[in-house]
Amino acid sequence: MSSVRPADAAGTPGLGPNRSGATPRSPFDIEQGLTAVRSFLPCATPEAWVAAAMGHLDILLLDHANCERKAAATAVSLLFRYERVPGLPERMSRLAREELRHYEQVLAILARRKVGLRPVTASRYAGGLRELVRASEPDRLVDLLLCGALVEARSCERFAALLPVLEPDLARFYRRLLVSEARHFEDYLLLADTVATVEEVAQRLLLFKQREAELITSPDAQFRFHSGLPGGEQLAAR
Ligand SMILES: [Fe+2]
Ligand SMILES: [Fe+2]
Repeated sequence: MSSVRPADAAGTPGLGPNRSGATPRSPFDIEQGLTAVRSFLPCATPEAWVAAAMGHLDILLLDHANCERKAAATAVSLLFRYERVPGLPERMSRLAREELRHYEQVLAILARRKVGLRPVTASRYAGGLRELVRASEPDRLVDLLLCGALVEARSCERFAALLPVLEPDLARFYRRLLVSEARHFEDYLLLADTVATVEEVAQRLLLFKQREAELITSPDAQFRFHSGLPGGEQLAAR
């Protein structure tokens, strides 16, 4: 564990300059944020996934709603478990509120489009990353924060990838969301930087990024918001 740092630019205790590429910015610059997100991720979303998304828009939105509420639940669970980590409760509380707001917004879009809520099974993505999370503390916290950073960064990158092909009202919505997700990516990385050494963050990121790239670029039978390369079977996606 590294020592606690002075307040960061946003006044959050314990968070100083980061070591993983996340830079606090205000006001948020979309292009700069996207550049940081893309350089952090191990690979770009395959074009084939973007094309598949257009053929599975209902599933995309339903799974997106699931992702938002899961993101809120993850943040709440972290602030319950790690309330004493400097800066964590403040950042996770704000993040959870934003994710629930996103959830409500996706629900409103689904209602407008007359898409009924129905269960959509989880993609392999989050579970695939979580398999690498170490069980003992403080290793577990470091790994959970790095997983969080990757999930948020990928969400942000996917929103950006969808913008050119989405109908205008959805594109406007996703453009707003990608700004939030870029900030969430930074929140997680900044927290990881406060609880682990430079070497540990670099070493764990290498492992998680390798797994993330596999999940994004290998054939995936299901189409979901975080699914991999579209496979043949997904034409029958429910
Ligand atoms: Fe969100
Ligand atoms: Fe988020």
